[in-house]
Amino acid sequence: QPLVGLVGWRGMVGSVLMDRMQAEGDFGLIEPVFFSTSNAGGKAPAMAKNETALKDANDIEALKKCDIVITCQGGDYTSEVFPKLRAAGWNGHWIDAASTLRMKDDAIIVLDPVNLPVIENALAKGGKNWIGGNCTVSCMLMGVGALYKAGLVEWMTSMTYQAASGGGAQHMRELLTQFGTLNAEVRALLDDPKSAILEIDRKVLHKQQTLSAAETANFGAPLGGSLIPWIDKDLGDGMSKEEWKGGAETNKILGQGAGFGTAATPVDGFCVRIGAMRCHSQALTFKLKKDVPVADIEAMIAADNPWAKVVPNTREATVKDLTPVAVTGTMDIPVGRIRKLAMGPEYVGAFTIGDQLLWGAAEPLRRMLRILLE
Ligand code: HSE
Repeated sequence: QPLVGLVGWRGMVGSVLMDRMQAEGDFGLIEPVFFSTSNAGGKAPAMAKNETALKDANDIEALKKCDIVITCQGGDYTSEVFPKLRAAGWNGHWIDAASTLRMKDDAIIVLDPVNLPVIENALAKGGKNWIGGNCTVSCMLMGVGALYKAGLVEWMTSMTYQAASGGGAQHMRELLTQFGTLNAEVRALLDDPKSAILEIDRKVLHKQQTLSAAETANFGAPLGGSLIPWIDKDLGDGMSKEEWKGGAETNKILGQGAGFGTAATPVDGFCVRIGAMRCHSQALTFKLKKDVPVADIEAMIAADNPWAKVVPNTREATVKDLTPVAVTGTMDIPVGRIRKLAMGPEYVGAFTIGDQLLWGAAEPLRRMLRILLE
């Protein structure tokens, strides 16, 4: 069985990946080697077979023995270790959740239900570097990739509603701490049905505006009861890095130019952090190349892959099935609110949601492993 090195398996994305690999029986097909950046020599988890001690994740010689390395350790680790490993002559497959290598010419962004032909073409040419996409982009394409595959999209805007988990585990804790602080501030008033709502509102606002540095250390601003319309770095041209990824990665995944080149479909919009836990949601506007009936659009999305689910565009179905709470922890990618917009028959709106730890991070990696094992 191929030797598969696992790095960063204890973190949030790594833990979701381990759960999915166990659920799908992936460990039955590999000889896992667990690496650690902090606890080499410690005991490997229960999925270990022959190698029951943790290896040092910075030990190039130990990594070199692996046929495949999968890492969820993060971008700093990739920047540090990947070049050394390749320079040492390692010719194995590198599967990575971090964004570091995503836009390199010799790397493929893996999302096989959407871009299996791109992956297969790269494999045939000897490709070895397989990188998971940005969570928002992967979830969006799992939902509406059918329209791209059919060549129907002239352009698309994506207005996102991104969960705390996209920042990391500490961000999720910080959001909940803020909610708790705000609730505690007005609990007595809430318990009194005759209290004045504007007094509650005033107290909450004051608390939000005076949260301690420790309570906003991760987001840098209050998020509980608010939102933050900027995610990731400031590129200096008015665009956030998360917004740039939307256009650049969508096109790279689809194999149509790695950014805003001539072959690329314009994809742009605003990325917003909201107080959801781990589902990223997106309001999409499409300008299609022609007038396609809504029923045909729904049929294409529903038929595209087993996970995309069309939610009927009614109030009842939407509030039941098209919320982060309904989607969290499932592999489903619901797509709803599909309707023609007032701008004209080629303009279509949709709303889609995905668990950013599953399709947004872990799942494309383990599916790439399975493709390599075939
Ligand atoms: N950049 C994403 C976010 C995380 O902050 O939500 C995953 O790509």
